[in-house]
Amino acid sequence: MNPLYLDASGTGPAALFVHGFPLNHTMWKAQTEHLSDVRTCLAPDLAGFGASSNDGGAALTMERHADDLVRILDAYEVERADVIGLSMGGYVALAMRERHASRFRSLTLVDTKAEADDAAGKAKRDAGILSLRTNGRSALAQGMLPKLVAEGAADKLRHQLTAIIEGTDEDSIALALEGMRDRPDRTALLRGVDVPSLVICGEHDALTPPSVAREMARALPQSELVIVEGAGHMAPMENPGAVNAALRKFLSAL
Ligand code: MLT
Repeated sequence: MNPLYLDASGTGPAALFVHGFPLNHTMWKAQTEHLSDVRTCLAPDLAGFGASSNDGGAALTMERHADDLVRILDAYEVERADVIGLSMGGYVALAMRERHASRFRSLTLVDTKAEADDAAGKAKRDAGILSLRTNGRSALAQGMLPKLVAEGAADKLRHQLTAIIEGTDEDSIALALEGMRDRPDRTALLRGVDVPSLVICGEHDALTPPSVAREMARALPQSELVIVEGAGHMAPMENPGAVNAALRKFLSAL
């Protein structure tokens, strides 16, 4: 198995940043820079994304990514990390929690959910794969953008996200859509999370709205909830100041 690309910086206890779909570690740049004085920030590209290849086109399940992340912790001799996942990265963080609970010092779920896709959601994944194969990645980016960022998002951010999506391996995008479609419901797991947890959600998140974040925060026994003003689904990129402040406060209290 090829090693994953990893952006590692900073000093102190390890924080593991897990990116969303179909993005890469660069979405966390503002956070890894901001927190580098208090955390060793480990921001990988998941298999198939960014600079990490997906050997031989293997399935991109949440469980596979979760196991890959634990291999990164092993390589850095990190026993327990602050695990921070956005959207698909949150699905991966929950799969990691299910399979490797002892590796968590804390859990931060950003613009994500614990539920599985319902029937309509699964059908959308299949339609997405068909459309990707027919119309390509630029059409996917154009279709996704209004759901990723709030209406008032800057053009620079829109261009940055478009470039990342257009640069992501097409086969990996299709495999990730299958992996997300087939992921199980992990809501029951939330009640058993016995480490401090932070739930962050953009106030205008159209994909995983604040109502979903509130439910997760209610289910997590030791949780805080932060709603990020002015942001959509990509809160860490849309309002980095607010997300950085929430993470610094949460991580500093651990
Ligand atoms: C993401 O941002 O990772 C995706 O929107 C997740 C999803 O499609 O369920």
